[in-house]
Amino acid sequence: MTDPPATPNVRPATAAEAADVRAMHAANRAAWNEAAERYESWYDEAVALIRAGGSNLFPVEHDLIGELRGRCRRAIHLQCAGGRDTLSLWNLGAAEVIGVDISPRMLELAARLTTATGAPARWIESDVLDTPRDLDGTADLVYTGRGAIIWLQDLDSWAAVLRRLLSPVGRLVIFDGHPAEWLFDADDEGRWMATDYDYFGGPEASKGWAPAYIDHLAIAEDDQSWKFARAWTLGEIVTALLGAGLKLERVTEHPVDWWAGHLDVRPEERGRVPLSFSVVATRGD
Ligand SMILES: C[S@@+](CC[C@H](N)C(=O)[O-])C[C@H]1O[C@@H](n2cnc3c(N)ncnc32)[C@H](O)[C@@H]1O
Repeated sequence: MTDPPATPNVRPATAAEAADVRAMHAANRAAWNEAAERYESWYDEAVALIRAGGSNLFPVEHDLIGELRGRCRRAIHLQCAGGRDTLSLWNLGAAEVIGVDISPRMLELAARLTTATGAPARWIESDVLDTPRDLDGTADLVYTGRGAIIWLQDLDSWAAVLRRLLSPVGRLVIFDGHPAEWLFDADDEGRWMATDYDYFGGPEASKGWAPAYIDHLAIAEDDQSWKFARAWTLGEIVTALLGAGLKLERVTEHPVDWWAGHLDVRPEERGRVPLSFSVVATRGD
C-alpha cells in the first residue's frame, strides 16, 4: 500500500482539469464565495478606512499609480474582491470606480461598502475574461493585482481584456505576487531556504487557505470547493502583455511581502528575494 500524500488537499491539476479553463474558473468562483467570509470580517475596518479618506494600497502602489486627481475619469479594478482597494482608488482621486469580480458574495460586500461610504462605484459580476465590452476604451486606469493573476488560467485572453479596457490615455498598473516567492520559505532560524516548489509546475488544485491570509473558514477544509491556482512565470506574464500589444513602460521586481506570507523571515534577510512585481503599461497605439 502506498502512503497517502503529505497534503492530500494540494495536488497538480489533472490533464483534463488543466484543459478546461472555464471549469477551473467556475471552481474558483465557488471557492472565493466561501473565502468571502474572511473579507466580510474586515467590513467595519474597510468602512472606517474609506470614510476617513484612506487607502489600503501599499506605498509602492501609490508610486506606480501616481496622481489621479483631475486625471482619471474612470478606474477599473479587475478582481476587486470586497471593494476596499477599489474604493481606495476613489480616495486617491479617481472620479468613478468600477470593480469586476467573479464572486457574487464578494460583490455584495462591495455594494454594502458603497452604500456606507457614498462612493461613485459600480460592481460587475463577471469572469474577468468576459468583462463587458461596453467598458472598452473607457478606463484611464486599469488596476489589478495583490493575488489576482494566480487564479487565471488563460493569460492571453486576460491581457487582451486589459488592453481593450484602456482609454487612449489610459495606464495599466499591475502589482502582484512574484512567482519566485513560492521557491523560498523561512527555515527554523528565519533564514531563507529553498522549498520543493516546482516553478514550472502548471495549475495546482487545492483546498484550504494559508493561515496568514484567509485561514480557517466556517466550512471544514475537506468540504470546501477545489480551487485552481497557477504561479505563472514572469516570462509568461510579460509575454502575454506584449502579445496583446500593450506598451510596457516598466517591469519591476520588489521585495514587498504583499500578503504577509513571510513574516517568519528575519528582518535582515528580507529584501534579498523578489516577493512581488509590478508592470506599468499603456495601450501602445
Ligand atoms: C486575492 S483576491 C484579490 C484581492 C484584491 N486585490 C483585494 O481587494 O484584496 C482574488 C479575487 O479574484 C477573484 N477572481 C478569481 N478568479 C476570477 C476570474 N476568473 N474573474 C474575475 N474574478 C476572479 C476572486 O473572486 C477574488 O475576489
